[in-house]
Amino acid sequence: FGFTPFLFFLLSLKLEKAAKGKLQKQICQVVLDHFEKQYTAELGDAWSRVRDVLTSPWCWQHAVLLNRFSPSPGLESSLAGQGYHPAFPAALPYLPAAFRCYSRAAPGRFPAQKHQPGRLKEYYLLNAASLLPVLALEVKDGERVLDLCAAPGGKSVAVLQCACPGYFHCNEYDDLRSRWLEQTIESFIPDPVINLITVSKLDGRQIGDLQPEFYDKVLVDAPCSNDRSWLFSADPQRAVLRLMQRKELSCLQFQLLRSAVEALRPGGSLVYSTCTLSRAENSDVINLILSSCSNVVPVDISGMARGVSQEFTFLSGMQQHELLVLPEKGRAWGPMYVAKLKKVSSS
Ligand SMILES: C[S@@+](CC[C@H](N)C(=O)[O-])C[C@H]1O[C@@H](n2cnc3c(N)ncnc32)[C@H](O)[C@@H]1O
Repeated sequence: FGFTPFLFFLLSLKLEKAAKGKLQKQICQVVLDHFEKQYTAELGDAWSRVRDVLTSPWCWQHAVLLNRFSPSPGLESSLAGQGYHPAFPAALPYLPAAFRCYSRAAPGRFPAQKHQPGRLKEYYLLNAASLLPVLALEVKDGERVLDLCAAPGGKSVAVLQCACPGYFHCNEYDDLRSRWLEQTIESFIPDPVINLITVSKLDGRQIGDLQPEFYDKVLVDAPCSNDRSWLFSADPQRAVLRLMQRKELSCLQFQLLRSAVEALRPGGSLVYSTCTLSRAENSDVINLILSSCSNVVPVDISGMARGVSQEFTFLSGMQQHELLVLPEKGRAWGPMYVAKLKKVSSS
């Protein structure tokens, strides 16, 4: 894992080539047509700018989240030498001191590190917007935390960069993805901290009944229509089927949220997030929970949104307890919807 600027230069060239290969991947027209109709209606003029980014993988960016459990001496200067800067302002309320994430306006990807048994990775590559749900959760040392839909584990790793929970439950229903989650945790988290983590393979909809009022914080990073990847579906027939089944996702998301509410202790809070622009899977699901659970109230996250507005573009007109990151050229983060709720009393 030694870092030299020349090695990075070579790896960057290789990755740029790989990115160009990805470009040649076809856009799935049936998905684009579907999004065009829906998102023009929901986002208005903003959609055409978002569409330009989503359909142009060569302008996609990747942020670099440093692993505080495996500091690398040369890494931060290598990043600075390649035009990276801290993605989040240090003055941001509830930004933990140990939390270090770098981004740059130029597209491309910093070289990824391979999994090596017994060796911790030094950084995680990700869409910077996917850290917003974690920051909104404001995990504190000693808290009991549930990551309800955790694989492949990017947000679980990010939670552990922010604080050291007293108990951290990472759940993933899908068998294969659950193994991926375990590998991610093994790659980033050292032994004493791993002992605080429980990985399970439960249907997240059941956890509320199994562990009622147990957690201080719950993250629901829900399964959703993944707009970025759906646009590049290789199999148009499968894509049509997925689009037809899209309505069922809202139902699953609502059930996962209801389970999360049950799992929260009174006074605890949850963050709900998705990587789709679709209103049916975002605000509509949150509004349904707010209208059906009288013990849940919205939490204002507009301060956080203002604090990071240099790096992210948000859809205007959202309510104070929610935000939607819109990808834009030079700030190609998102889509990412984030909402925060608090449980005020027992069910
Ligand atoms: C958006 S991904 C989570 C990404 C993850 N939080 C991260 O940051 O790496 C949603 C995950 O939910 C899982 N999932 C789907 N249905 C579920 C359920 N009923 N209970 C728990 N997890 C589920 C999917 O397999 C998928 O891995």
